[in-house]
Amino acid sequence: MPRGLFLTLEGPEGAGKSTQGPLLAEHLRRSGLDVLSTREPGGTPIGERIRGVLLDEAHREMAAETEMLLFAAARAQFVREVVSPALARGVTVLSDRYVDASLAYQGFGRGLDVAVVRWVNEVATGGLLPDLTVLLDIEPTAGLARARAARGKEGAVGRGDRLEQEAAAFYGRVRAGFLQLARESPQRFAVIDARGDVDEVRRRVIEAVDRFLRESRERPEPAG
Ligand code: TYD
Repeated sequence: MPRGLFLTLEGPEGAGKSTQGPLLAEHLRRSGLDVLSTREPGGTPIGERIRGVLLDEAHREMAAETEMLLFAAARAQFVREVVSPALARGVTVLSDRYVDASLAYQGFGRGLDVAVVRWVNEVATGGLLPDLTVLLDIEPTAGLARARAARGKEGAVGRGDRLEQEAAAFYGRVRAGFLQLARESPQRFAVIDARGDVDEVRRRVIEAVDRFLRESRERPEPAG
């Protein structure tokens, strides 16, 4: 049985992953693929415990290194329990976030050495990389405004207080990091302009994914 394709969805805050993910999964299913739509930690009991540690309000002082290692630890379990078995069954896996999120957030965003984050994640994943990464690209201010609107909060971005400015700088680095990763691996990334309404962005995503699917059908199966 041919191995399934591994697709990931990435982007900074408010780029629209949680809206576009299900729409893309639906499109893939309509194209006749058996699809597992998932996100880290993907329901693995160990990963859920780790996520609890990452999200705990009491852990505000968490060091960037701790955060990076915890994301990687959850990912190690996710790959072995969820992703690899599905790919081996010929299932197409679509994951909302994966290794590139750690490179962009913990590396470029928090300032950890990107080469170290990459290496740790190679250990975590056994070197499993996506066949295609859809990067929803949006400017931090537009993304943060969307994220805030989605949470139902009032107020425009850019109140100008210290935390807001820190957040804008952080997300600026995250976005630039994602774009740099895409430039380094142009065959793996599809960079999508995430501005505009849901349907416009959905059409851009589908066009890019369909092009990738056509090309992967034309490519011969790798031996072994
Ligand atoms: P996510 O659940 O994808 O939420 P959102 O759709 O709102 O972006 O990610 C939650 C947060 O965790 C988000 O700020 C990105 C961050 N994150 C990392 O910093 N590193 C990682 O490896 C992952 C997977 C997420």
